[in-house]
This record gives sequence, structure tokens and C-alpha cells, in this order.
Amino acid sequence: MTLKKVRTAILISGRGSNMQALVEAARAPDYPAEIVLIASNRPEAPGLAWAEAQGIKTLALDHTSYATRDAFEASLQEGLDAVGTEFVALAGFMRLMTPTFVKRWHDRMINIHPSLLPSFKGLHTHARAIAAGVRISGCTVHFVRPEMDEGPIIAQAAVPVLSSDTEASLAARILEAEHTIYPTALRLVTSDRTRREGEKVIISQDVNPSPTLYSPRE
Ligand code: GAR
Repeated sequence: MTLKKVRTAILISGRGSNMQALVEAARAPDYPAEIVLIASNRPEAPGLAWAEAQGIKTLALDHTSYATRDAFEASLQEGLDAVGTEFVALAGFMRLMTPTFVKRWHDRMINIHPSLLPSFKGLHTHARAIAAGVRISGCTVHFVRPEMDEGPIIAQAAVPVLSSDTEASLAARILEAEHTIYPTALRLVTSDRTRREGEKVIISQDVNPSPTLYSPRE
């Protein structure tokens, strides 16, 4: 039987290394999501050029050329609909979305954030984690809700913060973990492995692989 894959669009604003991790994972024949579009609000995003080189459909929408957020999102929605998008993954997409857009994609849009949410929401995450002196930071994949960096948590990875860390060294260590948990999280939510109870995600066959790195096993 051929697997009916979930048509997934990835939204980026820059480098796109998480997008790349998702695209590469989705090449596996048994992966439940298929990447049908890479869209960016910044036409110069390096991730767009990479996606084009892979032969994936891309969409560049310069948000600065739209008078309102609604107008930008209307174009984005049109682009998503044009390829029959069923699911959206935000991967370094650095633009807040209106509640209307977020509600339209309720439980069908996920995001990755480089901290252990609900700690360190927003920008300059790593600098704030270092300044706070935390020993453990990490990353989180969650369903998107209208409030910034909020929503039911699907996957997290814990990453140690070293005394010698700079913002850049911590970001790089956490980014590696992001590349592991994001493909796992997308796999879980686009197959029948998760359900929501209130604003909590329940994972079937949940396993804790180690005391310091929590990321649900596939
Ligand atoms: C990633 O670290 C991602 O978690 C973060 O931006 C980076 C994008 O890198 N996202 C956020 O801060 C969202 N609030 P990438 O373009 O190489 O995936």
C-alpha cells in the first residue's frame, strides 16, 4: 500500500538549516510528510536558493512590500493553497502571524524554538540563557498558538550550557539537537502517533531515551 503523505510547506526567513533537516528526513520512503513548498518572507534567504537547487517549489514574499500583515498573509495563504498544503512547519520563520492566520492552521502548524519552552521565549534566547546562568538549555517543537512561542509541546531536547559558552557556541550546540528533534516531531504529528488532551500532546509509545536528552523516539 502506498503511504498517503501529508502535504507540508516549510516557512523560513534565513539560513534554513532546520528546513534542510526536514527535507532530508522527508526523502525516506516511509516518512509521513512530503515537502511541497518552501516559502520565505525574505527573498534573499539562503535557504530558498538551497531549496531551488533541490528542485523543490519555492515562494518568496517580501513582507516589506505589503501594506499590512493581513495582505502579506493573504498572499501566503494563496501560495499554500496553490500547492494543496495540509500542514505547515515554521523553521526560523521570524515573523509574527495574526491570530486569524494561526487559527486557520490550528493544530496543523508547528514551530521550533531554541530554548526549553516555556523558558526564554522571544529573541536573543541564547544570550539570555547564558546571562541567567542556566546549566541546561535546549530546543522545543510545539504547535503554534496566537501568543508568541506558546503552544502544546511535541518534542524537546536538553542541551548543556558550559561556562565557556558564547552565544554562538551555545547556538551551534543547540542547533544540532534541533536538527534531530524537528524531523522526529514532524513525523510524529503527521502520522497517528500523537493526540492532544487540552493543551498537552500525548505521544503513543513514549520513551525516554536518556536522562538528559529527551526527544520522543519514533
Ligand atoms: C533556529 O535556531 C530556530 O530554532 C530559531 O532560528 C534558527 C533558524 O535557523 N527560531 C527562532 O528563534 C524562532 N523563534 P535555521 O534557519 O538554520 O533553521
